[in-house]
Amino acid sequence: MSLSRSSFALLAFAFAAHAETGSRACAPCHAEIYKKYMQTGMARSSGRVPATPNKESFKNAAFTSESNGASFKISPTFRLDFARDAAKASRQLQWFIGSGRLGRSYLFETDGMLFQAPVSYFAASKSWSLSPGYESKPTADFTRRVEPACLQCHASRVQQSAARPFLEDGISCERCHGDGSAHAAGKGRMINPAKLNAEARDSVCAQCHLTGAARVATAGGGRASYQPGRKLSDSVAVFVWNPAPPQKARATGHFEDLANSACKTNAGDKLWCGTCHDPHTEAADSRAKCQTCHTPNTCPNASGGDCVQCHMPKSESGQHLPFTDHSIPRNPAARGTPTETPVLKPFWGQPSKREFALAHAIASPATALALLEAASNEGDALLTAQLSFAYDRAGLEEKAERAALRAVDLDPTQTAARINLGSYAIKRGDVKSAMAHWLKALAQNPALTAARVNLAVAQYQSGDAKAARATLKTALLFDPDLLVAQPALSTLMAP
Ligand code: HEC
Ligand code: HEC
Ligand code: HEC
Ligand code: HEC
Ligand code: HEC
Ligand code: HEC
Ligand code: HEC
Repeated sequence: MSLSRSSFALLAFAFAAHAETGSRACAPCHAEIYKKYMQTGMARSSGRVPATPNKESFKNAAFTSESNGASFKISPTFRLDFARDAAKASRQLQWFIGSGRLGRSYLFETDGMLFQAPVSYFAASKSWSLSPGYESKPTADFTRRVEPACLQCHASRVQQSAARPFLEDGISCERCHGDGSAHAAGKGRMINPAKLNAEARDSVCAQCHLTGAARVATAGGGRASYQPGRKLSDSVAVFVWNPAPPQKARATGHFEDLANSACKTNAGDKLWCGTCHDPHTEAADSRAKCQTCHTPNTCPNASGGDCVQCHMPKSESGQHLPFTDHSIPRNPAARGTPTETPVLKPFWGQPSKREFALAHAIASPATALALLEAASNEGDALLTAQLSFAYDRAGLEEKAERAALRAVDLDPTQTAARINLGSYAIKRGDVKSAMAHWLKALAQNPALTAARVNLAVAQYQSGDAKAARATLKTALLFDPDLLVAQPALSTLMAP
């Protein structure tokens, strides 16, 4: 069965036009830096499979998920086979994300859209397993679209194209140095992060290494609008919990942790990522770097030992990613858990009421309603959609429906609000409107299982069993494990 492709053109992310020249253009004049940078994890953080050099072993490439019972097998040609009882499906993994130092995730295409694979490769155990975040899913999920943020952090010159999602593998020179086309042609200077003021300098690394509890695109901004030399807070407002939650492994918590260190709070702008890291190599010559500020005899316990081993210990996270503690604790063993109630605060910059409200909607939905109402703006689709969800959570369905209608009018890609509109209609017995809403949601994203299943049930209940079967067949195309979670649907499939 083939699906229409025309609908995807509407999914316009605001991706910047990319005039950048690409890292290869830098090699002739900066050969040394180019050569060593290309060996780093950052430079190799994404690409087409198989990567060179290929890191994956296929010895432990067949497994049955302990959490949801689905079976997977990955072949050396990166074909992923899924099976559960009679349900079977295959996907060709096409792109990898992650250098493979720690592990790799993969993307595949279904009908002109890119999805994240439910399986990843883990270097430490040399084995394949469910992707991080998929362990809690009741089914083998093939419907998670790749988030633009994922590509923005792991690839360069990101495109809105499943056939060519990015023009350059990994993190290019220009992600930290800015557009180099003029400079490479001998006509301009590059940005050197080390020469920028502190916030602009830190923003270069923060675009990818600062996740926080919530990241909110500023009005007219968004991640793709950030350029080296500018402040990240002009494009994305980043919020963190204060006090910070107890240390737990977060792949992108380095900024928050360092900000909480006594070194950073006392040394201020003098200390930054670049103090200990040469971004063109992977090595952090940390002992020497500690001693730019500390003499070994300030430590009563040093006795010639490695500062980092005691003050920046490594932890293992659930996802097999070792993680170095950047909060540089005085005594990691003696650290307590904060007792104050944490609040969301901006990491830097002065976010607007809107950004504040949206951050709460993301990180603390239960407390977001009043803030969203206060920030409410008739012309803001994102804010209005979140307001609708907050009303829905509070049981204020009429208000929720009104806001949802406004949100989809402003922005047809607000598909979650559109799906809710269908549910409100069906509750009133208005099957026709409900089906119309779900069809519109599916026109935006054909892989929305919830909308597709709702539509099939509505079609069945309104007497059109044939249409219901066709709808479910399409749902299974995207979501082959669907029937396990909802066995009752099998009756719809029966002729
Ligand atoms: C034709 C040779 C040439 C090419 C190609 C070239 N550079 Fe340069 N680059 C230079 C020279 C010469 C300097 C020193 C003078 C200056 O700062 O402009 C320099 C300086 C730099 C600096 C230091 C700027 C500072 O203020 O400290 C950076 C960063 C840089 N280049 C990055 C790049 C990047 C990234 C590329 C590829 C997009 C690139 N260069 C391509 C010749 C080149
Ligand atoms: C905000 C930026 C950001 C986003 C978004 C992001 N990552 Fe990452 N990712 C990182 C950073 C930074 C690291 C390195 C962490 C470390 O070394 O501790 C990393 C590490 C990884 C690794 C391990 C790579 C290795 O070293 O072998 C994988 C795999 C990975 N990410 C996959 C993904 C996938 C898949 C997505 C999207 C669904 C994603 N990441 C989204 C920033 C990001
Ligand atoms: C992850 C961010 C990042 C990437 C990617 C990156 N650089 Fe740099 N680069 C920096 C920073 C930070 C400095 C300043 C280092 C310092 O002085 O402490 C720098 C300095 C430089 C300099 C001037 C100082 C010197 O050492 O000569 C040149 C030239 C340069 N980079 C070229 C490149 C080229 C070419 C590439 C790609 C092959 C590249 N950089 C990739 C962050 C980056
Ligand atoms: C465009 C996104 C991006 C930017 C900008 C960026 N990083 Fe990274 N960084 C990553 C990702 C993704 C990884 C994980 C790479 C992997 O192994 O797949 C990473 C890995 C690292 C690592 C682990 C070692 C390695 O090379 O893999 C260090 C250290 C690091 N980054 C430091 C920095 C510093 C310092 C800056 C700023 C000068 C910076 N990064 C800027 C995305 C970025
Ligand atoms: C840019 C300067 C700078 C660098 C680099 C630096 N520190 Fe610090 N650090 C400070 C300052 C300032 C303080 C606060 C005054 C003090 O206790 O000496 C501090 C405090 C500390 C403390 C006491 C923490 C507490 O909670 O009381 C420890 C432990 C420490 N640093 C270890 C390190 C280690 C280990 C490194 C290297 C990995 C390092 N520092 C790198 C500036 C720095
Ligand atoms: C005081 C020194 C110091 C500073 C400052 C520092 N780092 Fe690190 N970082 C280290 C050390 C030491 C390691 C462990 C290196 C190793 O194992 O080879 C490390 C490891 C990392 C890694 C690899 C994954 C991990 O957790 O082991 C990433 C990514 C990273 N740092 C990012 C950053 C970023 C981003 C900043 C700025 C916010 C930063 N670091 C500031 C010392 C520092
Ligand atoms: C064997 C583990 C170990 C090593 C190695 C070590 N430290 Fe410490 N350090 C400690 C402990 C434990 C404390 C806390 C002592 C206390 O709280 O009474 C400490 C305390 C400190 C303090 C706070 C001192 C004060 O009086 O406020 C600093 C600064 C410090 N270390 C820096 C360093 C530096 C720099 C190095 C490397 C040259 C280093 N440490 C190596 C275990 C170590």
